[in-house]
Amino acid sequence: MTARIISGNEIAKTVHTEVAEKVTGFKDTNGYAPGLAVVLVGDDPASRSYVRRKERACVEVGIITDTLNISADISAEELMGIVDELNNDDRYHGILVQLPLPDHIDVDNVINGLDPLKDVDGLHSQNAGLLSLGKPRFVPATPLGVQRMLIEEGIEVNGSDVVIVGRSTLVGRPLALLLSQRGRGANATVTMCHTGTQDVASHTLRADILVAAAGVPDTVTADMVKEGAVVIDVGVSRVTDSSRRSGFRLTGDVDYNAVKEKASAITPVPGGVGPMTVAMLLENVVLAAKLQSA
Ligand code: GUN
Repeated sequence: MTARIISGNEIAKTVHTEVAEKVTGFKDTNGYAPGLAVVLVGDDPASRSYVRRKERACVEVGIITDTLNISADISAEELMGIVDELNNDDRYHGILVQLPLPDHIDVDNVINGLDPLKDVDGLHSQNAGLLSLGKPRFVPATPLGVQRMLIEEGIEVNGSDVVIVGRSTLVGRPLALLLSQRGRGANATVTMCHTGTQDVASHTLRADILVAAAGVPDTVTADMVKEGAVVIDVGVSRVTDSSRRSGFRLTGDVDYNAVKEKASAITPVPGGVGPMTVAMLLENVVLAAKLQSA
């Protein structure tokens, strides 16, 4: 079997169009546009690139966005002060602190310093708690994007066996919660594999839907995939490639060329989950603006 390629770029375009309409409606009702503040600490090239994409997408759909570029040697206290100012700034309905943060800063403190109603990343304990209770408010954008792709592609999630490789706070864990709750594009039996899992392949081979979210290239090889499975690759790693002008190329967690011969559908890297993360962030910003205007 050769897999159908799921285009995150195409589905993200649909979401952008929908969000642009919602932004117009919001502006008509409230007289101002939703706003997003992005906090970028340090100069990690991958983070810079992600933030640029988020800025561009905001502009495209009519969301006001400002990025605060902050030196990596900022103290935790100063950063908390900036977060507090943004919490009290009415122009911004959403605040996104780009991760990772420098090692000397406690990420949990910063995230929990956000106004939970502005936490469009869905990482604040209150939002994570609501998701775990089956009452989601802000869900992290990547899991939301994966779920949206499955829905748009007509892939049956209800009753399926989903195996997720990776338990990160940003992807694996919230995705497991999202897909196992009741409702559309959910109601699956979910297994989460991680570095403590004894025999990862024994689990992945059962998967109707296999999600690779370990952040390590070649985590999922063809011998780990059931014939006809849907394979979603969340990983994005930069690997050295001297044939490219940039000196690197992006690769996922899945051995794409071999796995696409076994799967029924697969997401590419780039152009798969990445654009969906950006698209769903936009939706979360509009949701934040609505919650704060209510
Ligand atoms: N770094 C990598 N992905 C993300 C994301 O979705 N949100 C934030 N804040 N940082 C990230």
